[in-house]
Amino acid sequence: MLKGYFCRNNSETMESRGLIRVAIFASGNGSNAENIFHYFKESKHIQIAYIVSNKKEAFVLERAKKLGVPSLFMDNKEFRQGNRILEEMKSHSIDFIVLAGFLVLIPANLIEAYLDQIINIHPALLPKFGGKGMYGDFVHRAVSESGELKTGITVHFVNQAYDEGSIIFQKSVDIEARENPNKIAEKVHALEYEYFPAIIKQVILSK
Ligand code: GAR
Repeated sequence: MLKGYFCRNNSETMESRGLIRVAIFASGNGSNAENIFHYFKESKHIQIAYIVSNKKEAFVLERAKKLGVPSLFMDNKEFRQGNRILEEMKSHSIDFIVLAGFLVLIPANLIEAYLDQIINIHPALLPKFGGKGMYGDFVHRAVSESGELKTGITVHFVNQAYDEGSIIFQKSVDIEARENPNKIAEKVHALEYEYFPAIIKQVILSK
């Protein structure tokens, strides 16, 4: 049962509950956002209902337009302040939030309203290579320089610290010592496309 801000009553089942409306937050390209959209587009239970970006020029906003998903740009200052983003989630009846390459810390009021209903994907095996400033290619470069022989993806609940919420799922992939960061990125993206949508579904349906 979803138990946050938009909690519905306890006797509801997935069937009686109607569509679970999901918002995706993304700051850049949005390839995961689009992949997640396609995974759920025929779903009777889960709908990608809103896409939010903190970057006006982010390609994810183009993707949202093309896919016909309502979208919103909100600058970092307004986002961090918290009130308007919570209002937006409320007015779009959003039940669950997915961070897919979103690079701003989530404000406390949103975390509180959506307790255990916000998840993030990180492109490495947390707790390694996480924290502020560790995103996208910075992560892959750090992994390459470290000489690690494995990297992967981590899906976790979001709390008020970067990359520290409880871990839901990890999947690793072999890499060569000091492998080219672009090659590492390709391997990690492949894992993200394969596993992230199914994990989102599993978390939502387990509520
Ligand atoms: C993804 O690899 C995601 O794991 C990463 O940003 C990329 C976004 O790609 N997220 C982070 O680094 C968060 N710390 P996309 O915009 O093509 O989906």
